[in-house]
Amino acid sequence: MALRWQTILFFLLACYFPSIVRYIRHFRYFKTWKDYALNFSVSTVFALLMLFAGIRSQYPLTLRGLHLLEALLYLYALVIIPMDLYWMGYALYGTIKRVFHRKQRIWAYLGGFMAALVAGVLLVGFVERHEYMVRVIEIPIENLPEAFEGYTIAQISDAHLGSSLIAHKFHQDIIDTIKTFHPDLFVFTGDMINNYAFELDDAPDFSQIKAKDGAFAIMGNHDYGDYSSWTSSQAKFDNLQAIEQGIRHMGFTLLNDSAVFITRGTSCLALIGVQNCGVPPFFKCYGDMNTAYKKVLEHEQNKALEPIAAQVLLSHDPSHWDYEVREGFPDIDLMLSGHTHGAQFGLKYKGFRWSPSQYIFKEWDGLYMDQALVSASDKPNKVHYLYVNVGLGYVGIPFRFGMKAEVSILRFVKPLKKQ
Ligand SMILES: [Fe+2]
Repeated sequence: MALRWQTILFFLLACYFPSIVRYIRHFRYFKTWKDYALNFSVSTVFALLMLFAGIRSQYPLTLRGLHLLEALLYLYALVIIPMDLYWMGYALYGTIKRVFHRKQRIWAYLGGFMAALVAGVLLVGFVERHEYMVRVIEIPIENLPEAFEGYTIAQISDAHLGSSLIAHKFHQDIIDTIKTFHPDLFVFTGDMINNYAFELDDAPDFSQIKAKDGAFAIMGNHDYGDYSSWTSSQAKFDNLQAIEQGIRHMGFTLLNDSAVFITRGTSCLALIGVQNCGVPPFFKCYGDMNTAYKKVLEHEQNKALEPIAAQVLLSHDPSHWDYEVREGFPDIDLMLSGHTHGAQFGLKYKGFRWSPSQYIFKEWDGLYMDQALVSASDKPNKVHYLYVNVGLGYVGIPFRFGMKAEVSILRFVKPLKKQ
C-alpha cells in the first residue's frame, strides 16, 4: 500500500501550477531576482511539504500520514487560492491599464476582496467542520399499528473517520446526544472510513448507544478501498474484511444485502440493508436488491409470521432511489441514505437553500416523498419517502461551511386524515 510517484507528481504540479501561470502572465514585469523568488517561494515551501508528506506516507501510509496530507491540502487552499485570486485581480487591472490606458482599480480591489472572502470561508468552514445539528423528522406511515407509533430511528452517516483531525470530543458529543433520544433503532448509512482499515484504529465507541432493537450499518462507496492502489487483490480483500470486522466491533450488525425483522406486538418492521449501489458508470453498484429483498418476500409468504407494518431500506447513495428502488420495490416505505455530504458547502436561509450538491444529485439533503405506482403496488396511494442525511465527516480538506454535520431522529407517525 504505497503512495505512488504519480500521486506525488500530481501534488507537486498542483503546488507549482499557479506559480507557473503567474510567471507566464507577468514575465514582462518581473525584473529582479526578488520578483521571481517571491513568486515561487510560497509554492516551493508547499511543494516540499507535500513531498515530505508523500514520502512520509509511503512507509507505510498511516493515519498520521493521512492527517498530515489533509492539513497540508487545507493550508495550500488557504494560502495559494486567495493568493491566486489577488494576482488575477491585479493582472486584470494591469492589462486594462496597459491595453486601454485606463486605470480601473476596481479589478485590483475585487481580487483582494475575493481573496479575503475565500480565506474567510475556509477558516469558518474549518471551525464548522465539527459543529453538528440534530434534525427531528416525522415520517407518516399508512396503516401504522399502534405498537409502532412514535417508533424512533437515530441515523448517522458518512463518518469518514480517517479524515477526522482531532475529532474525539465531536464524536463523543454526538454519541451523548443520540443517547438522550433513547432511539428504538440506531443506523449508520455507509462511508465509515475513506479507504483503509487502519482508519478504524482510534474509532469512536458507537456501541455506547444502546438502541432497543440494535444498531445496524451498511457499506458506502468509500468502504471498499476503491480509492487507493493495492499491491494485490488479496491485500484489497484483506482490507475489506478488516473494515467489515471493524464496523462489527463498533457494535453494528452489518446488513450486506440482507434484512431483519423487528417485532412489536402483533406486527413487525422490516429493516433491509443493501451494499453500496451507485449509478453506473461513475459509481459502482455492489448491492443486490433482489437478494436483500428475498427475506422480505419469504416473510410475507409465511402466514405464521407477524405481518409487516413498515419497510425501511438502508442504501448509501440516494441516486439508488430513482435508479431502482422507487419503481422496482414500491412497498418500501422509507429509504435512508447519506453520501452527498451536501457538498460540505451550502447556503441556507429560511426557505432558501443552495449547494453545489444540487447539480450532482436530484435528492441531496433532507426528506423527499413520492407517490408509489398504483399498478405496481398492492397498496394504492402508498407514499414513498427518502431521507438524505448530509453526514458527519468530510473528504478532501477539513471543511464544512453552511452544511453542518447531522444527526437525524426519524419518528413514525400516523398520517393526518384526508379531508
Ligand atoms: Fe461519504
